Amino acid sequence: MEPTRGKWITFEGIDGAGKSTQLLWFSEHLSKCLKPLGISLLTTREPGGTPLGETIRAWLLHQPMQLETETLLIFAARFEHLATVIQPALKRGDWVLCDRFTDATFAYQGGGRGLAGARIAALEAWVQQGLQPDLTVLFDLPAEIATARRDAVRAPDKFESESHAFFTRVRNAYLRRAREAPDRFVQIDATRSVAEIRHQLEKIIEQF
Ligand SMILES: Nc1ncnc2c1ncn2[C@@H]1O[C@H](COP(=O)(O)OP(=O)(O)O)[C@@H](O)[C@H]1O
Ligand SMILES: [Mg+2]
Repeated sequence: MEPTRGKWITFEGIDGAGKSTQLLWFSEHLSKCLKPLGISLLTTREPGGTPLGETIRAWLLHQPMQLETETLLIFAARFEHLATVIQPALKRGDWVLCDRFTDATFAYQGGGRGLAGARIAALEAWVQQGLQPDLTVLFDLPAEIATARRDAVRAPDKFESESHAFFTRVRNAYLRRAREAPDRFVQIDATRSVAEIRHQLEKIIEQF
């Protein structure tokens, strides 16, 4: 008998929203919840998630390229990630936690950079064949707060050095995606403290 298909959770939000801060803790917490059920958790990220995907990630961050090229490379990495990592894990019955997925492409390449949503949707349909995460946690906060948090600790990379206006467009595109798929998304007020957000994540996973 085939094992029950695992669940797939993604974290989304603008740079500096606090995804990475919560991811390690959340992944340990969720692993502990799943262990008594004999279920493993696989934690991964995009762009990346496979050796080829990590190479593509480095190109995306360091090579100048057309917006369309960037988007196609993201979806090429995504196909590899889905076919060789995510889908096999879900089929085994494992759960998958992924730091960013296609919502980020709608937010950054679509909302942020202005690529038509219909083009992204066409690639999404081709690469995902209707497959979507079961739960997407959106860390939402104003661009100004995210920038101030990031600037306090690290030098910005290519995506992070964009303007407030850019990140506001990215944020709004995320919020639009959340409105279009209210059953899949839960929103977190990411202006709250690390401890408060942890508490909220515990509740979200309990309910899920
Ligand atoms: N809830 C929070 N309150 C205040 N600062 C936070 C919070 N969550 C994260 N930070 C800080 O903000 C910065 C960006 O967080 P990070 O987790 O790297 O964001 P992301 O992965 O979403 O880009 C880090 O320096 C982190 O310590
Ligand atoms: Mg991060």
